[in-house]
Amino acid sequence: MTETIDSIRTEMLAAVSGAADAGALEALRVSALGKSGRITALLKNLGTMPVEERKGFGQQVNVLKDEVTAAIDARKTAFAGAALNARLASESMDVSLPIRPEAKGTLHPISQTMDEVAAIFGQMGFEIADGPDVEDDFHNFTALNFPPGHPAREMHDTFFLPPGDDGNRYLLRTHTSPVQIRTMMSVKPPIRVIIPGRTYRCDYDMTHTPMFHQVELLVIDTETNMSHLRGCLQEFVRTYFGVDDLTTRFRPSFFPFTEPSAEMDIGCSRKGGELKIGNYGDWLEILGCGMVHPNVLKACGLDPEVYQGFAAGMGIERIAMLKYGIPDLRTFFESDLRWLRHYGFASLDVPTVTGGLTR
Ligand code: DAH
Repeated sequence: MTETIDSIRTEMLAAVSGAADAGALEALRVSALGKSGRITALLKNLGTMPVEERKGFGQQVNVLKDEVTAAIDARKTAFAGAALNARLASESMDVSLPIRPEAKGTLHPISQTMDEVAAIFGQMGFEIADGPDVEDDFHNFTALNFPPGHPAREMHDTFFLPPGDDGNRYLLRTHTSPVQIRTMMSVKPPIRVIIPGRTYRCDYDMTHTPMFHQVELLVIDTETNMSHLRGCLQEFVRTYFGVDDLTTRFRPSFFPFTEPSAEMDIGCSRKGGELKIGNYGDWLEILGCGMVHPNVLKACGLDPEVYQGFAAGMGIERIAMLKYGIPDLRTFFESDLRWLRHYGFASLDVPTVTGGLTR
């Protein structure tokens, strides 16, 4: 019997130290200490032994059991430690590596400018609204108080689409103003939105491309008046151009959808053929604006005796050209990589009013 105990010990300890992995170890444990394991069988046998042998033998088996258990546990701990070390080694990183080389792609100046405009008006509490590029005559013209046959319709050099089955005349929107209509027809005032987006006109030269971008402004409530329009737009141009005391000038103008209508100029200098934004005595036209025409409010189902507000619209390319010194509008859309690298913006620098608008 003592021999059996010794041979089990020798065999088990050798097997444990030779086990290849945690699985093999577990199999060994079951073979010795499991329900029908060899050591368990010895303990079960105790009852059949003569009383005088039982005590001594029982002690020996228990010592064996403890030894084997301890050997298995020690090996298990060693396996776990080795597994952890392997994982640490495979997941390690070299914190002394240099940072990634700068991303090659850049943000297009149009995207950057739109983000800047959104950051400024967002800070003032405006939300972003949008609408479809393919519009119908009602939203692009009629509801904006362009009567049928009105010459202003022709001034827009509209791209018309083939007539639809529903009898509507579809077109590529000539401005972002139709989204004023869509917003007023779907949102209950107070309304404070900006509408950035693509617009289309059949025109092509240094300052015109068939597709370009505008951002529209719309404020509707019961009290907003022209002084709010002025304060809001003045604050915008000052922040956008980074000139704290930039002066603005409002000249009477005409748009069918506003009354009164105005064009806003900002101070500039053209000395020596170089354009500089600031209070230098000269003026530069920057956007169109006005108080929303009562007919427009009516077309949207709003009572002009109750509601009023202002609207404005400006060209994104134009304000981008002015701020970033880009001389030719057409280059925006030529996808020239050298141009994009030169005028592009770091893609992870999100403009904010407090954090800075440009890099
Ligand atoms: N929609 C006009 C255009 O494309 C720009 C404009 C002028 C928009 C005055 C406005 C506004 O909202 O009030 O020429």
